[in-house]
Amino acid sequence: MRLDDCHNFHDFRRMAQRRLPGPIFDYIDGAAEDETTYRRNTAAFERCDLVPNVLRGVENVDLSVTVMGQKLALPVYCSPTALQRLFHHQGERAVAAVAGKYGTLFGVSSLGTTSLEEARRLCGGGPQCYQFYFHKDRGLNRAMLERAQAAGVEVMMLTVDSITGGNRERDKRTGFSIPFRLNLGGLLQFALKPSWGIDYLIRESFRLPQLDEHVDMSGGAMSIGRYFTEMLDPAMDWEDVAEMVRLWNGRFCLKGVMSVDDARRAVDIGCSGIVLSNHGGRQLDGSRSAFDQLAEVVDAVGDRIDVMIDGGVQRGTHVLKALSLGAKAVGLGRYYLFPLAAAGQAGVERALELMRIELERDMRLMGCTSIDQLSRGNLRFR
Ligand SMILES: Cc1cc2nc3c(=O)[nH]c(=O)nc-3n(C[C@H](O)[C@H](O)[C@H](O)COP(=O)(O)O)c2cc1C
Repeated sequence: MRLDDCHNFHDFRRMAQRRLPGPIFDYIDGAAEDETTYRRNTAAFERCDLVPNVLRGVENVDLSVTVMGQKLALPVYCSPTALQRLFHHQGERAVAAVAGKYGTLFGVSSLGTTSLEEARRLCGGGPQCYQFYFHKDRGLNRAMLERAQAAGVEVMMLTVDSITGGNRERDKRTGFSIPFRLNLGGLLQFALKPSWGIDYLIRESFRLPQLDEHVDMSGGAMSIGRYFTEMLDPAMDWEDVAEMVRLWNGRFCLKGVMSVDDARRAVDIGCSGIVLSNHGGRQLDGSRSAFDQLAEVVDAVGDRIDVMIDGGVQRGTHVLKALSLGAKAVGLGRYYLFPLAAAGQAGVERALELMRIELERDMRLMGCTSIDQLSRGNLRFR
């Protein structure tokens, strides 16, 4: 299978599956428990239909949006995801470079394998957000904020839906963890993909540069699982976050808010944005999809804070439906991760180009030339 044969999300997913050892593919593809929320995230977009207008003169289409003070050339952005070096040796470097080329936001994860400073350089001046987890050690939190400030990061994004790790049973079955502690079945699956293994060994070694000054993941004393259970603070509350917002003193966004009450509190403590998200179904299985939750949150706070969503987005029309309901921008996760795993930077570039073309075509077919022309009048729920 070649990159030219990939025309949509499913093609990239298939190509990634052929290239990756099973446990790594399952880490990306999998979600929590019965994966109900994961499936619903995409299915939710099918609960409503677009109602196009015609004969509106749609020669020039402007796809740009402004979100949290940042102008994005596309209404989609690359949501922060962990461990990209495992998926392809170009890792975050590839995603940052492509996001920069397409003029959109790139989210660097605390668990990213490229430093936020380097990702920033590779974005080529494109807007960047730093995704942060809240640690028990307040000094460590402050040090991370200061580092991001010094790097010139525009938006701080605190993930609030991962107060404890999700129950990802696919990873349990294969023994996937960092550092690797695979079981025999998992090891055999790596043996079936020797080219991934050779590539992994001959390239620069795996690192977590946002954390490695603070946490030693190399010697086996700490694992990502233990990082979540031992270093992150399950006592985190609104007071703690309000203090962080004050410390950051810039654009601050909460990722993983779902309820109207929490959206209101985010406004009260001075956040500039919220991302409605269930972490791609990887945390609380049975949680509602962000798309289903979008209208009520926009109605409550949409005039005071930028509301974004992520989860299950595979098509330009999914993006247009979310924008029509009032989202300011839409996050992509697996949509760019499978292309990264399939073909590195060339894969991510093709995926974003296909998304751009789809959005432009779908806007024309909807009779719209700018994103602000999309509205709930364009939608009907079944
Ligand atoms: C492999 C993988 C790793 C992720 N790592 C992080 C992370 O480090 N921090 C974070 O806030 N979200 C993380 N996410 C969640 C994404 O940012 C995003 O919310 C989710 O992928 C959206 O769903 P989608 O993959 O269906 O588009 C991760 C998601 C995946 C699939």
